[in-house]
Amino acid sequence: MEEFDTIILGAGAAGLFCAGSLIAADPGHRILVLDHARAPGEKIRISGGGRCNFTNLATNRERFLSQNPRFCASALSGFAPGDFVALVDSARIAWHEKTLGQLFCDGSARQIIDMLLHRMRSAVLRLETSVTGIARTDTGFVVTTGRGMAAGRQVVVATGGRSIPKMGATGLGYEIAAQFGLRLVTPRAGLVPLTFAEQDLNLCKPLSGLSLEAEVRHGSGRSAATFRDGLLFTHRGLSGPAILQISSYWQPGESIQVDLLPDCNLAAELRAARGQGGRVAVATALARWLPNRLAEAITAELGLTEARLADQPNRQLDILARRVNEWQLRPVGSEGWRTAEVTLGGVDTRDLDARSLQARSAPGLYFIGEVVDVTGWLGGYNFQWAWASAHAAARAI
Ligand code: FDA
Repeated sequence: MEEFDTIILGAGAAGLFCAGSLIAADPGHRILVLDHARAPGEKIRISGGGRCNFTNLATNRERFLSQNPRFCASALSGFAPGDFVALVDSARIAWHEKTLGQLFCDGSARQIIDMLLHRMRSAVLRLETSVTGIARTDTGFVVTTGRGMAAGRQVVVATGGRSIPKMGATGLGYEIAAQFGLRLVTPRAGLVPLTFAEQDLNLCKPLSGLSLEAEVRHGSGRSAATFRDGLLFTHRGLSGPAILQISSYWQPGESIQVDLLPDCNLAAELRAARGQGGRVAVATALARWLPNRLAEAITAELGLTEARLADQPNRQLDILARRVNEWQLRPVGSEGWRTAEVTLGGVDTRDLDARSLQARSAPGLYFIGEVVDVTGWLGGYNFQWAWASAHAAARAI
């Protein structure tokens, strides 16, 4: 049986970074990284449209969802976005800030993978190797794979979530957690397009491909979540960054509210336009603020296709304005694991130590990255969690 100090399950963002951090601290640390995929870091490769949004300068615990919103703070403060940027700089990878603190490679996401692989080059990386079991021993753990067995004093589970099974996502991490008595927060798809029933689809489908900036809201009062960003009509519903963000907050049966003109009090604008000789058609007037196709679709939905602005009473203008500024929608579902960028839920943080990510019930067993019930907003936060949680575990090991 091969023997290692640490066996890492999963060669994704968290697993690769953990291996590199262990070696940075102790070049002699013997590490085995196992993954059933053909290549390491596949999600990094396709992330950020191929440019990898590798961190976000605005990282703080409020940008993450978890049953315990405070859990991620310790790891995040131990490894900040600037720490990752320093590594990117030392690898001479050019980057730029897009918007809202999102940092992307100027070139290719491949550069980040190469940097991570270079950092952990003295580790043994075994790809196309499926993990079939893990057992406790007197000195640590034995991991059984399709290619034999390996022993390690520690095992780090970095097998990610359930999103995009085509890219190798499995529930292995959750099974291992259950085996060692850790609880699970039911995983569900996050950062995912939302789908709608026929009535709303009648509007969305013909507008498929159209995008605009919108403000999307879920909930009310202190628990409200609001995102202002791009919204995209699709043939099955709505997508775009604002919708992906709100999808992480939405639960089946709940509504969302969309403001298609966030900077405009449309009721007041329509009244003013009517006062200035409103012989124009309602759709034409609306197209001053909204894309033509959308203006036509909304007026048609309200039975105002032939209507002139001048003939509309205040009550009708208010209905139209509410339809634009306060569009209430009830999604019927999401596009699911097939396209979800992340998995919400996962290993229950109550069963992990926040400083080390070590399982409370199984010393030597660590869970890092997306497999844990910590999920970031869109915009580089999920990679920052992968780096920070990996760093925390490596420091503890
Ligand atoms: P990750 O999923 O990266 O790695 C898990 C590894 O475990 C995989 O290599 C998998 O093959 C392996 N594995 C799973 N089951 C196994 C088994 N049974 N046996 C062996 N190996 C197994 N985030 C961000 O911050 N910025 C961005 O730009 C993007 N963009 C983006 C685009 C798309 C299309 C997706 C799907 C996701 C993103 N993300 C993102 C999210 C980000 O990719 C994600 O949060 C991290 O990759 C999570 O890192 P982990 O290492 O935890 O899991």
